[in-house]
Amino acid sequence: MNQELFTAVDQYIDALFAPEDEALTATVRSLEAEGIPQISVSPNQGQMLHLFALQCKAEKILEIGTLGGYSTIWLARALPRHGRLITLEIDPKHAEVARQNIANAGIGEKVDIRVGNALDLLQQLEAEGAGPFDLVFIDADKPPYAEYFESALRLSRPGALIIADNVVREGQVIDPDNPDERVIGVRRFNKMLAENPRVCATIIQTVGAKGYDGMALAYVKP
Ligand code: SAH
Ligand code: DHB
Ligand code: MG
Repeated sequence: MNQELFTAVDQYIDALFAPEDEALTATVRSLEAEGIPQISVSPNQGQMLHLFALQCKAEKILEIGTLGGYSTIWLARALPRHGRLITLEIDPKHAEVARQNIANAGIGEKVDIRVGNALDLLQQLEAEGAGPFDLVFIDADKPPYAEYFESALRLSRPGALIIADNVVREGQVIDPDNPDERVIGVRRFNKMLAENPRVCATIIQTVGAKGYDGMALAYVKP
């Protein structure tokens, strides 16, 4: 691995395509200040999420795993004026920090942060008849990724895009005997995604400042 080079190239790409404004830098600082793990997507991954949301003309976005709202801000900024994003977060402190960051970004009215276990919140969304969503970003705890995906699929419109972060895990994903519950979770998810006839899907490997990982992309066939 050439982590130094990957980080330098990441910075080059960020400077060209994904410069952070005050709201995004303040979000990064808030994680440091609050002792919250620095596991947000990178700037250019945020820009990639933004680009996907624009490309599918997203008006309704669902995010599973808010943290401090960093990816939320990149995604919500792709919404039209009447667009809405619902983001699910289990940790009340993360949710509160995210609420402030999202308000500071000026998109508070577009974003609904729901606090609780995503499995319960997803069931509620389905019961409410929420959606259908144009884009879903899965980025919470890894063991239930397959269940998050099944729920995301039920909540998606035909032609929607479902994206899942952290599905390569520094290559650990190719080891069927890896005992890490997160690796087991993403392996189960990746297999289910590959076998599901309702989606056209693949995984792209990602390298950069945030290390070596990957994102799964699934297009919900019309
Ligand atoms: N999408 C964010 C990063 C999310 S990190 C970004 O890129 O900016 C993962 C988040 O998922 C953490 O905040 C964690 O508290 C939350 N999480 C973990 N388990 C969860 C669960 N069962 N339900 C909802 N959120 C959960
Ligand atoms: C972890 C979670 C993430 O969503 C991520 O992007 C990186 C790391 C983690 O739980 O360690
Ligand atoms: Mg992630």
